Amino acid sequence: MSEATNIELNGVHHLALVCRDMEVTVDFYTNILGMPLIKGFDIPGGQHFFFDMGGNNLLAFFWFNDAPDAAPGVSSAAHLLGTGRISSGHGSMNHVAFDAPMDKIEAIREELIGKGVDVSDVINHADISTQPGILRTTKEVEEETWLRSIYFLDPDGIMLEYCANVKGGTGDVSLPVNADGVKADGKGLDGD
Ligand SMILES: [Fe+2]
Repeated sequence: MSEATNIELNGVHHLALVCRDMEVTVDFYTNILGMPLIKGFDIPGGQHFFFDMGGNNLLAFFWFNDAPDAAPGVSSAAHLLGTGRISSGHGSMNHVAFDAPMDKIEAIREELIGKGVDVSDVINHADISTQPGILRTTKEVEEETWLRSIYFLDPDGIMLEYCANVKGGTGDVSLPVNADGVKADGKGLDGD
């Protein structure tokens, strides 16, 4: 039974992040990533700037004059994907993935490297159930490859990703775990 709702799902209007130096952030997102800066204004104790990330979506940044320092592993991912655990604190923003055309992912990587950004290898994500000894990521595109991604950090250590769909996923959904990591069927994580 479907109920009437006024809640429409229209994608992201803006995602708001926090930077240490707005000048550096503006330089990175406009000159390295090519996002037009479409709005920027002062607020009491800070600034609020908006970049156009395409697809009618905005990436916003705050600068606060009382912001604490970055805390990798708490406020943001502990490591760049592929170099260590990417865990971060409850309620944190772990990473942002920008949609990339499938045939451009390698070229985007080369261009970013040419602009001095430290970018991961292209990581191919397999659409498989997690099992001990079976990797969800592969170096080459395989039959099971679902997404292709590259990862890098912005000037504040915010993990960014360009992600290209290779094919539609299977739609498999694991049971969610509770705060103790236990599922409704009493089991823990697959693969553990
Ligand atoms: Fe991702």
